[in-house]
Amino acid sequence: MSIKPIQYHDGKCLMIDQRLLPGREEWREYDDYRGIAEAIRDMVIRGAPAIGVAAAFGVAFGARDIEAADFEEFYPELEAVCQLLASTRPTAVNLCWALERGKRFARRHHGIPLGDIRKGLLDLAVKMAEEDERINRTLGRHGHRLIPPGARILTHCNAGALATAGYGTALGVIRAAFEAGKKISVFADETRPWLQGARLTAWELLRDGIPTTLICDNAAGHLMACGEVDCVIVGADRIAANGDTANKIGTYTLAVLCKEHGLPFFVAAPLSTIDHSLADGSSIPIEERSREEVIRHGGVELAPAGIAVRNPAFDVTPARLISAIITEAGILRPDRQGDFGLSIKPFRNPSLPDE
Ligand code: MRU
Repeated sequence: MSIKPIQYHDGKCLMIDQRLLPGREEWREYDDYRGIAEAIRDMVIRGAPAIGVAAAFGVAFGARDIEAADFEEFYPELEAVCQLLASTRPTAVNLCWALERGKRFARRHHGIPLGDIRKGLLDLAVKMAEEDERINRTLGRHGHRLIPPGARILTHCNAGALATAGYGTALGVIRAAFEAGKKISVFADETRPWLQGARLTAWELLRDGIPTTLICDNAAGHLMACGEVDCVIVGADRIAANGDTANKIGTYTLAVLCKEHGLPFFVAAPLSTIDHSLADGSSIPIEERSREEVIRHGGVELAPAGIAVRNPAFDVTPARLISAIITEAGILRPDRQGDFGLSIKPFRNPSLPDE
């Protein structure tokens, strides 16, 4: 059974501290929105859908603690809570999507007692966590149809149970293929500088008994050239309306390598990762993280102190390099020009359900 990295118990949100895995399995408890914002910023919890669910609990805890006499006093305060949560990590659109969903819930119920809005926001956060795992299982069932028996699949970063409320997106497809008895195997890119592949993907897949081999990021091209990889599957942090996809830094390089070697390159993501407001990927905000992450690891100096460093956390893979986008609604395909616009468009409205 795959892990549920974010859970709700007795008024508290529990998160497994992903900075410590695989060495230590420690759970942190949060009961206020500032703590949740910090947990997202500091990567206690990470991965686009998991960040979205954490933000939903942030909204609920923030709403609970707002002292207001009526909705007119309450709502601006709720917006301030959302603003703080939104400022934590800019690339994953699921974060803004979850905040928008919470604010919309409050606006729609303007007029009912504030206590009921507060309770409704907590119920919504719990529902979003359950919904996310269900979506991933559906997505996995659709996606594994693309995976032939015996496939050797390369994945990057961690788009697993740890990056979601459970089961995973890219790893959800891998899990579904494995559960269907397809005898697949996985190459996990280590994913510098945070090593989500080495620390998290390897940990998850090993626990599930899925045959997995860890590789350095720069080994992918060599393995493809040797004919040892059949396809690549990754997750996504934000997908523009034409299919351009932001994901962990290094994803774009893999897509180019797939093109060179004639290999399918699949993206697996829930519909909530699609940002219909962006025509293409050129305006997706790319988070730049600290130089410390690159020059030091586990207290060890990896580079001279004076060196200039760039540390973009994500890159954008152009839609034309993507073979298919796997969602809970099915498999989306590009047109002849490599544009996903027509297959993405019908999903514009259901992305924010009425509740
Ligand atoms: O910096 P991270 O660890 O939050 O980055 C995570 C990724 O890039 C994942 O591939 C993406 O969020 C999809 S997770 C289902």
